Amino acid sequence: MIFEPKHGLKSDTQGLAPRPRASLGASILGLGFYLPEAKLTNVDLEKLVETSDEWIVTRTGITSRHVAAPGQDTSTLALPAAQRALEQAGLTSDQLDLILVATATPDTPVPPTACWLQRHLGATNAAAMDISAACSGFLFAMHTAVAFVRSGMHKRVLVVGAETLTRITDYKDRGTCVLFGDGAGAAVIGREGFLDLIYTSISSDGRGADLITVPAGGSRLPASAETVAERMHFLRLKGQEVFRRAVQTMASAARTALDSLDMAISDLAFLVPHQANQRITLAVASALGLPAEKVMADMSDVGNTSAASLPIALTRLLQSGRIKPGDPVMLVGFGAGLTWGCQVFRGNESTPHARIG
Ligand code: UT7
Repeated sequence: MIFEPKHGLKSDTQGLAPRPRASLGASILGLGFYLPEAKLTNVDLEKLVETSDEWIVTRTGITSRHVAAPGQDTSTLALPAAQRALEQAGLTSDQLDLILVATATPDTPVPPTACWLQRHLGATNAAAMDISAACSGFLFAMHTAVAFVRSGMHKRVLVVGAETLTRITDYKDRGTCVLFGDGAGAAVIGREGFLDLIYTSISSDGRGADLITVPAGGSRLPASAETVAERMHFLRLKGQEVFRRAVQTMASAARTALDSLDMAISDLAFLVPHQANQRITLAVASALGLPAEKVMADMSDVGNTSAASLPIALTRLLQSGRIKPGDPVMLVGFGAGLTWGCQVFRGNESTPHARIG
């Protein structure tokens, strides 16, 4: 039976769901993540700013975050995540023909972090480029990868979300420093894998561009002694407004996806929202009428790792063995820009159970 789309392609959201619940011809072949060894706990933060473990846990659900060691940069965190994803995909790096790295914390302004990662991997047959869409970066990079795979222009794409957010976190600002951590997650995308993509959509609204910013270091305000003294190279966040917009926008993006797929919320096996704050993930679930046990709230020991958060959470969900063949899993993200996106995958008969890393 041929399903006709309820809404077809949506120019306002760049949605892509030609036939409800049918595979879009792109699939995840491998997943992996990496978290650096060192941890920064809430008790450590109590020594840096006026805060408490109790406040942080109650308001965010976070108890500790991982911190890159001196000498580790974004691409060196991305490397083991990518290697694990490749290993699960059963591919070697020279079989990749495209590498996309989503990051807000590149190794260097020039060249792209994707090229540093390509060098570490020895992926000599791939084109490599960065995608900049902040916390939604992984979804934007996946959307791009899927477009290339569907068109046949690239066959095996490595998509990485990787961040060293602690390098742009102001440890004098208690409103932000409790949130962020470092880490990387990776997916290999091709035609036939174990999680089939059935919906993808990305969106942006530059009217909210001033809600999350790193004010200096770009062409608007190049680095100077003054920008350093004014702490303008650190991330600034209008927390309450971002919180409100994150809940509304992710819930609305999820509803649009379900509508396009002709699915009810009860059809979802799992919702994996961007891991920014446990209160945000639970508020999104509640707005959608989804029971808390079907929502991945996985930031307790990782914090908000921006572009890395979704691939880390998805890999850990798969590792827990809770996704079975046929299960639809939704990823939804929101971040600076403003940017947001939603993807729905369905496990197939080759979905692995608790054997990926
Ligand atoms: O990935 C997308 C980007 N980021 C996000 O999605 C983050 C979204 N926002 C948030 O997660 C939350 O807004 C925060 C965790 C940043 C803040 O939580 P909140 O419940 O919105 O707190 P608030 O900003 O309304 O502040 C409440 C009070 C204030 O004190 P007064 O004015 O009521 O006396 C703050 O100064 O809590 C104070 N406060 C803190 N107290 C102890 C703010 N940060 C802290 C802190 N420890 N770390």
